[in-house]
Amino acid sequence: MPEKIFVFDTTLRDGEQSPGCSMNVQEKVEMARQLERLHVDILEAGFPVASHGDFESVKAVAAEVRRPVVAALARANQKDIDRAWEALKGAARPRIHTFLATSDIHLKYKLHKTREEVLKMITESVGYAKSFCPDVEFSPEDAGRTDRDYLIECCHAAVEAGANVLNLPDTVGYCIEPEYEQMFADVKARVPGMEGVMLSTHTHDDLGLAVANTLAGIRGGARQIECTINGIGERAGNAALEEIVMAIHVRRDVVPVFTEIHPEELYAASQLLTRLTGMVVQRNKAVVGRNAFAHEAGIHQDGVLKNTITYEIITPQTVGAPSNHIVLGKHSGRHALVNRYEELGYQLTRPELERAYELFCRLADRKKQVYDEDLIGIVNEGLDHLPESFTLKLFQCVSSSKGRSTATVELEKDGHMYHDSATAEGPCDSAFRAIDRITGVPATISDFAVHTVGPGTDGVAEVTIRAAFAGREFTGRSTSHSVVEAAARAYLQAANKAIYELKRLQAGAATSLEPIHSNERTDHLFPAGY
Ligand code: KIV
Ligand code: ZN
Repeated sequence: MPEKIFVFDTTLRDGEQSPGCSMNVQEKVEMARQLERLHVDILEAGFPVASHGDFESVKAVAAEVRRPVVAALARANQKDIDRAWEALKGAARPRIHTFLATSDIHLKYKLHKTREEVLKMITESVGYAKSFCPDVEFSPEDAGRTDRDYLIECCHAAVEAGANVLNLPDTVGYCIEPEYEQMFADVKARVPGMEGVMLSTHTHDDLGLAVANTLAGIRGGARQIECTINGIGERAGNAALEEIVMAIHVRRDVVPVFTEIHPEELYAASQLLTRLTGMVVQRNKAVVGRNAFAHEAGIHQDGVLKNTITYEIITPQTVGAPSNHIVLGKHSGRHALVNRYEELGYQLTRPELERAYELFCRLADRKKQVYDEDLIGIVNEGLDHLPESFTLKLFQCVSSSKGRSTATVELEKDGHMYHDSATAEGPCDSAFRAIDRITGVPATISDFAVHTVGPGTDGVAEVTIRAAFAGREFTGRSTSHSVVEAAARAYLQAANKAIYELKRLQAGAATSLEPIHSNERTDHLFPAGY
């Protein structure tokens, strides 16, 4: 009888804390809604003590999603656990996830503690968490490099103190599959009182083995897996949720387990995360990459046309990915658009639909055929749930191969029109500088990516920008037939997010909390008086 694997998504915690992946409260709530649609069992919403923003995000997610368990991370001390519980207590199904490093390397160089001291901290912190919350998970950080006998002692201490989930992280992505599998088998066999305690995997991809190790952990007895959408996470990332889920789904003949994930929501989850973070997945990424279902070689195309089974082990429909079929043209109405968006996994609100329809009509006037990729590009433009401060009304640019470029922009805010021009080395730069002159929040670009969307020469350009405004990064993404216009719109979207965040901070929401993870959390980066 196949057994259920509980999917613990940590996109909003381990994923979000990696460089280039930060999200604000609204963005995390939007992602959490999609994770709920995806049907994850547990959703780790953040690390509340890390920053005010993290605390607020966990609280907001806990109030928003009701079906999955909502977990919050805490180090093994009372302050962290208090803060985690404060953020979580409105959740329908809260879980405190507390962790403490157990490898000799971490004890010696990071914690400066003896093994006895760490054991005592585990007992105290798990017991303390249990006094608030019936659902407590404990992670011996760097379990993969922890002396096995000592790991067994640590796990025993956690179980005795009331942990109902034991997560064994390969924190630095060091383990090879048989080792990782054996660790689970050992803990299961040697820790007393394991009946009713769930074992969990948590793997990192430093050696490209995160997904393989997750499957190895399942073979060793794990029934919960921790993973992230698109595999985002510290350094090389965490195990990619979509890859594990599809491996289990496709190879259920040899892996006698199942998940309750709705695979048709995978592509939408991947796309949404890219839109929110600006972190684009590589084209050849398994399951959700643009090329995952593209057949280029003639011999492959021939085979697929005869029967897709020849070269396709997953259909695009299974994961909700668009196929390259022509879907709509300029005579298609709103109804057809809503239907197609629903098929692609997007539930648009009425104002979002109106905006998407307007953009669709503009595109359909210029292109004969509108592809699924175009529709996704349309949704990704301007459907951020943040109120727009400035809207781009007009954009003009003069550039030449010799000399500098000049851009003129006209922006609207609260019914007022503002225009300005700027000259710079390139056309995009001149557009950004003209926008800066109006918004008053200049930025430095840290990432700029251009993709073509849709096949053929009439495809549109999709620009994703990551820009640092007063030291804090925001992303923007937009599509247009003109790369420069798409860049200007993407830049303005990022600037609007920065302005929105600034207003939120000025409204007095921020309190300074110590940064405690490797990437700094900064809530006070805007100059006072902006
Ligand atoms: O990688 C790791 O060890 C972690 C723990 C906090 C679970 O992310
Ligand atoms: Zn991790």
